[in-house]
Amino acid sequence: MDDRLRALLREDLEELEAYVPVKPLDVLAAEIGLPIGQLVKLDANENLYGPIPEIREAVERADLHIYPDPGQTELRRAIAGYAGVTPEQVVAGQGADDLIDIILRLARPEFIVDCPPTFGMYRFLGKINGAIVIDVPRRPAFEVDFAGIEVAVEMMGATVIFLTSPNNPTGNLLPPEQLAELLKLNALIVVDEAYVEFSGGTLTGFLAEAPNLILLRTFSKWAALAGLRVGYALCHPDLAAAMMAIKQPYNVSVTADVAARTAIEHKARIFESVRALIAERDRMAARVASLGWLKPYPSAANFVLFQVEGRPASDVAAALRKRGVLIRHYARPGLENVIRISAGRPEDTDRLVAALKEIA
Ligand SMILES: Cc1ncc(COP(=O)(O)O)c(C=O)c1O
Repeated sequence: MDDRLRALLREDLEELEAYVPVKPLDVLAAEIGLPIGQLVKLDANENLYGPIPEIREAVERADLHIYPDPGQTELRRAIAGYAGVTPEQVVAGQGADDLIDIILRLARPEFIVDCPPTFGMYRFLGKINGAIVIDVPRRPAFEVDFAGIEVAVEMMGATVIFLTSPNNPTGNLLPPEQLAELLKLNALIVVDEAYVEFSGGTLTGFLAEAPNLILLRTFSKWAALAGLRVGYALCHPDLAAAMMAIKQPYNVSVTADVAARTAIEHKARIFESVRALIAERDRMAARVASLGWLKPYPSAANFVLFQVEGRPASDVAAALRKRGVLIRHYARPGLENVIRISAGRPEDTDRLVAALKEIA
């Protein structure tokens, strides 16, 4: 970096480990040399059924020349009805990622707890917000290490704990008994429920008695709106008011706002695709496992983590990619030689399995 620039910028971010984002279809198609139509995108847990037509129509009718409502009045009301809370307990944002950033800016923690393997955005945004990340690695079946978190809070002073249920990329849930214990700690407990619609259970029941609980949700996964960027937090009304006060005033665009409300209005239709994805997750896991060299972990989300046997996970991902099938692979402590495959439509599973048979 240029010396004059270096003197003007934050020193602590020079060594920041980059967040590894997934790439959009057109970029991937150009990189791989295949037409977009031939790609099977199972790398980002998106809903490949796409948004329902009512959402496209509502977005088309949106008043694009008018600023969105900074108070999110209609959207908070709609989300509250959907989630079974009051509008005062809701804060919407530009994806769940925006809410992670708002929480960190509000609490300005010196130390945060991250429980890897998990979603990478907590540590990335934690560091950008100047926090020191205390890693409390998950145990062998990816369950959270409560004793480790307790030490991080009580001995080291961590004040924001990030948890995920179902966890990405491992697919397991945070048991309610464990959350009850965690909520007794003197820290904000953030539970990211980005995949809750695929899991059949939520932790919203704890909100009434725990002012230090924040649940994160998104329209990216179940409602197939990842490209529009809309998510939300559910929490105590006082905490929600504090978050509303510091967020970017226009953080939810007019199109994201109307799309999210339309999704809630037509949730029964969208849940048909959610149910199809759950069924396909189980069918995909069974078919892939039947090949004999990929062992699935149980999943309550719209993806499955597989242990790869007899070859490097990176080779499997590269060989699939050449055939137009995109998945994620990992090779790091706590996540050795595994791949994560999103549930798609039946035809996506068929392409995946055919490609896996070829590379075997
Ligand atoms: C656990 C988890 N939380 C949040 C997100 C991002 O949500 P959003 O698209 O609403 O920012 C993801 C996306 O992969 C995720 O896996």
